[in-house]
Amino acid sequence: MRRTVPVRLGDRSYEVTVGPGVRGSLAEVVGRLGARRAVVVSARPPEWVPDPGVETLLLPARDGEQGKTLATVEALCGEFVRFGLTRSDVVVSCGGGTTTDVVGLAAALYHRGVDVIHLPTSLLAQVDASVGGKTAVNLPDGKNLVGAFWQPRAVLCDTDYLSTLPPREMRSGFGEIARCHFIGAGDLRGLSLTEQIAASVTLKAGIVEVDERDAGKRHLLNYGHTLGHALELATGFALRHGEAVAIGTVFAGRLARVLRRIDQSRLDEHLAVVRHYALPTALPAEVDPGLLVRQMHRDKKATDGLGFVLDGPVGAELVSDVPVDAVLRALDGMPRAPLAALVGAAASDAVPA
Ligand code: GLY
Repeated sequence: MRRTVPVRLGDRSYEVTVGPGVRGSLAEVVGRLGARRAVVVSARPPEWVPDPGVETLLLPARDGEQGKTLATVEALCGEFVRFGLTRSDVVVSCGGGTTTDVVGLAAALYHRGVDVIHLPTSLLAQVDASVGGKTAVNLPDGKNLVGAFWQPRAVLCDTDYLSTLPPREMRSGFGEIARCHFIGAGDLRGLSLTEQIAASVTLKAGIVEVDERDAGKRHLLNYGHTLGHALELATGFALRHGEAVAIGTVFAGRLARVLRRIDQSRLDEHLAVVRHYALPTALPAEVDPGLLVRQMHRDKKATDGLGFVLDGPVGAELVSDVPVDAVLRALDGMPRAPLAALVGAAASDAVPA
């Protein structure tokens, strides 16, 4: 089964194709773009890289935040020059979200912009990072501080790649799918994996189409992320992104309940959805709630007070100036469990269907 999701952005429109074996369409997509050369930057072994059908330079990469630097962008662009890549050629990324981010930025900057096609290989990258045109690298001062909006010409989400992911990495991706339930995707539980990915991408495409530059509605995609990012930092990244977002999603439900925006059954739904994906729902016992509040003040949605995307009578929306005492009450109401138990439970269970 194969699903195709359009991202309608005028002359920057493209399609996201989801399903087993879709990486095999790469040569056709490259042919349609009219490129004569391709540079493929791949964090996967060569046997996983499809033939682009034109003269190709294959560059090995490694997924991970350590490679998301301006030095990597410079090194990639140097390779592009030496290969003779022109503005009418194409760059292809093949890897997780860190690879699509850094290769996307190199493509955005090389000759002031060259076509890029993403082949995301992790569930997180398929449902979020590779779609919507955000590219970035880190600085020593923080994550994603230097970047550009650069839409890909196509995204091929091949679900065959996912069969090789460690279970915990796979489950982390489900954290992003779980949060879609509360920002307009409806109930995705029970759908096939391809349909869940396609539904998450359809939701994201609809949001990016009205707010490509993250000036308003795109904040919805950060449901569960305000606490999620704080938890990642506070645990030294012992929690994976999707695990932290899952806990953040439960917290967002609890905060919405404290603020009387939702009823108890909707809060219970937050727990049920996160549990369905076998993701953690408790706060790590070792983490001080005061530290989490301080981290959340640094969130990009925070203005004078704390800002959260919260569920409510008209659906999810950005709520500014949330009182700290409401945040602390919601944190106090969360169950707590040792970090090792949260990570261990997430690492050992079977991957949800
Ligand atoms: N990952 C959130 C966004 O693309 O806006």
